[in-house]
Amino acid sequence: MEYNSIDLLFGGMRKLGPGDDSYTLAVLRRLPKKEFDLIVDAGCGAGRQTLVLAKELKSQVHAVDTYEPFLNKLSELAREEGVSGLIKTHCMDMANIPDEFKGIDLLWSEGAAYNVGFSNALRCWATAMKPQGLVVVTELTWLNSSVPAAVREFFCNGYPDMKTNDENIRIAIESGYRVLDTVVLPKASWVEDYYDVLKPRAESLLNHEDSEVKGLAQETLKEIEIFQVSEGSYGYVFYVLQLA
Ligand SMILES: C[S@@+](CC[C@H](N)C(=O)[O-])C[C@H]1O[C@@H](n2cnc3c(N)ncnc32)[C@H](O)[C@@H]1O
Repeated sequence: MEYNSIDLLFGGMRKLGPGDDSYTLAVLRRLPKKEFDLIVDAGCGAGRQTLVLAKELKSQVHAVDTYEPFLNKLSELAREEGVSGLIKTHCMDMANIPDEFKGIDLLWSEGAAYNVGFSNALRCWATAMKPQGLVVVTELTWLNSSVPAAVREFFCNGYPDMKTNDENIRIAIESGYRVLDTVVLPKASWVEDYYDVLKPRAESLLNHEDSEVKGLAQETLKEIEIFQVSEGSYGYVFYVLQLA
């Protein structure tokens, strides 16, 4: 029997990474512009933030992800919430955004840019943006220099490319942007509707007969355990950027 570890662990979830509708909305409302002609959400997942963008801006949002089942969930949610006319899904790699879209004036991406590398994503998307276009991206970031040894060790393997806030700001500037704002997501945005849903799911899959499913469950529980002992040493930061 074939099992899909991603579907078993994440299937049906609306929120697929740390994030929070109230933060998405607050950052959106602080942008220097309110109307956009071309909006792209890169690595949208099941579209938690896509739905916030579409409802608030009342404009079409192009939702990009490589995993079709997440896009299907987004389409279902959009229908249920009466905004299907405002959301167009695209099953494609976010690295190919410049081939598909020209003149983006708002590119949003929560918890997903790391998949192609933060610096690489910013440089790649810059070629698809309108002059003065806005990029809002969240990135996992070291928040202080005192890091518990277990946390340091976990990310040595898990995300060796993680940078400090200052380093990410420098990367953004070197990639051609002005940094308008940075906002750190609070701890609750990791736990509510995300880790508190994932933890019991992962625990129930620990003795699964499929080794891949079991492995993903173990990794997920380790990630949650590391977060609990992290002492605020890392977090997700919103980088609000404008093409210079
Ligand atoms: C941690 S999830 C975050 C999803 C969503 N933004 C949220 O916060 O709920 C990362 C998403 O990026 C997608 N992804 C991974 N690599 C990608 C790529 N190269 N291009 C587009 N999407 C990608 C995954 O399928 C997944 O939906």
